[in-house]
Amino acid sequence: MPETRFADIRRFESIDSTNRYLLDEARAGAPEGVVAVADHQTAGRGRLGRTWEAPAGANLLVSVLLRPAIDPGGRHLVTTAVALAAVDAIRATGVAGVAIKWPNDLVDAGGRKLAGVLAESDLAPVAAADGRPSPVVVGIGINVNWPSADSDLPPELAGLAVSVSQLAGGPVDREALLLAFLTALEPRTADLGTPSGRARLGADLLADCTTVGTRVRVDLPEGSFEGTATGISPEGHLVVATGGATRTVVAGDVVHVRPGS
Ligand code: BTN
Repeated sequence: MPETRFADIRRFESIDSTNRYLLDEARAGAPEGVVAVADHQTAGRGRLGRTWEAPAGANLLVSVLLRPAIDPGGRHLVTTAVALAAVDAIRATGVAGVAIKWPNDLVDAGGRKLAGVLAESDLAPVAAADGRPSPVVVGIGINVNWPSADSDLPPELAGLAVSVSQLAGGPVDREALLLAFLTALEPRTADLGTPSGRARLGADLLADCTTVGTRVRVDLPEGSFEGTATGISPEGHLVVATGGATRTVVAGDVVHVRPGS
């Protein structure tokens, strides 16, 4: 990808986790733009300490190392930039109806999960010493060719997951999707560095966010609450109206609930 900052693409047949790999590279001083992509992960990481599993050679398992010049409070927009780039790339395959379920899932029109994004950073002291913005590793797992049919899914995922190939009606080229994703990520990453760019990311998230306008249950470490998601803050956080008040949700699990359920 010479026309983007993502020229250094490191490919692995098998690795524990592409996020773990790039976090270690960042600790060793690697620059923004390094990409790690794997055919298979033996310890893929999901949000909230979960694992992320996919059969070898079927899906897109990719992480990027970014050093965004952005306040810590705006770091959710890094996840947003990656999610929007993935939406762009999937739409370019001709698949319609893809949206973002806040905070980090890509879903189809039926709410089935197509992809998940995981941003990780733990490196502020290392980064502060060399004057560069501190690194954030953002990984995404996109269900490209698995499941190939609903019958591939284990019972616990029945009706909850779907692949790009299912929506496209046939196998999808993972390499072409990777290149489309990195191409789309270039302007999205540039947007992280300016106020107008960040406003654009927020507006594009709002336009593509299936959560806004729905009844939600927000699960936080200190407890859960229900409300109606009414918008996205300038930092990319979810705004929820609940019991006559407005709460801004920075992180947490958000479940779309049907009224009355
Ligand atoms: C989620 O829980 O929805 C986020 C899943 C993120 C999975 C991707 S796959 C590539 C990268 N490497 C990892 O270990 N995790 C992310």
